[in-house]
Amino acid sequence: MRRGARDIAAFLAVWRTFVTDEQTAPTFAAPALDLTDTQSYAANPTGAQLDADRVSAWFGTNKVLDRVSLAMPPGTVTALIGPSGCGKSTFLRILNRMHELVPSAKLAGEVRLNGLDVYAPNQPITLTRKRIGMVFQKPNPFPAMSIGENVVAGLKLTGTKVGRSQRAALIEDCLRRASLWAEVKDRLGDAGGSLSGGQQQRLCIARSLAVRPDVLLMDEPCSALDPTSTRRIEETIAVLRNQVTIVIVTHNMQQAARVSQQCAFFLAEQGTPGRIVESGATKEVFENPRDPRTADYVHGRFG
Ligand SMILES: Nc1ncnc2c1ncn2[C@@H]1O[C@H](COP(=O)(O)OP(=O)(O)OP(=O)(O)O)[C@@H](O)[C@H]1O
Ligand SMILES: [Mg+2]
Repeated sequence: MRRGARDIAAFLAVWRTFVTDEQTAPTFAAPALDLTDTQSYAANPTGAQLDADRVSAWFGTNKVLDRVSLAMPPGTVTALIGPSGCGKSTFLRILNRMHELVPSAKLAGEVRLNGLDVYAPNQPITLTRKRIGMVFQKPNPFPAMSIGENVVAGLKLTGTKVGRSQRAALIEDCLRRASLWAEVKDRLGDAGGSLSGGQQQRLCIARSLAVRPDVLLMDEPCSALDPTSTRRIEETIAVLRNQVTIVIVTHNMQQAARVSQQCAFFLAEQGTPGRIVESGATKEVFENPRDPRTADYVHGRFG
């Protein structure tokens, strides 16, 4: 399947899970963080702490990640870098439980959101995916749905009720936070598919924000965009950093240096599963890496 088609299929699978799990989700008693609180964005204005602890992953018998640990703090953009096939997307998908949509997929280790194990047996998948949103490589708005409807599309699917009067304010708020409001405020009734690629990606960011996530995962969000649109998304990320924890995968080293405060370098050497070779403050990883493989990668000597 082509990458774009894969992104859309994954996106629809997530929404389908929202719909089907809504009826079957067990009652959730939150020990530390009330994940059913749809207002938690206001309670956690800078996002939540996300921790991966010795995460390993398999597709069938093929082990693709080996004991990856990474702390992703609030108020911080974490960039995941590394050559193709080293497991960055798999790691991202494990963080919001999309990995398990693949029938052969298995995993070990723990992912904690504000200290709470998102894979705990009593933890509904729907709430994890609501708290931890995802923006894909290829913009995937609902093309025939209006711009305004696109923004609030996730609310219906997550069972969040918003009154008519609040709805317009929410659409405006999300579009403003995604840096798209000025461009679309006079055409909210136009189809999502009528926007440019860069605008569509910002619409997808607005749609993710509408369910008030604590974390936003972005898998190469600019790889299908022109330099100007890329710059707009980067500016948007800079603004959102103070509202939501951001984890971004990018192959663009300049982008990682521009947008992130911390960086993790993934590598899968000679048929071995992907591991984090080095992680830390972005400035250190780029300017003073501890591992020679990191230096080679960030200076473009391989990958
Ligand atoms: N659905 C799947 N079924 C089987 N193997 C898979 C699947 N998805 C990924 N893999 C394998 O897992 C490994 C890691 O893939 P992943 O997509 O996470 O890498 P990546 O670092 O995101 O690469 P890229 O930079 O090219 O996007 C690869 O060997 C890949 O072939
Ligand atoms: Mg990938």
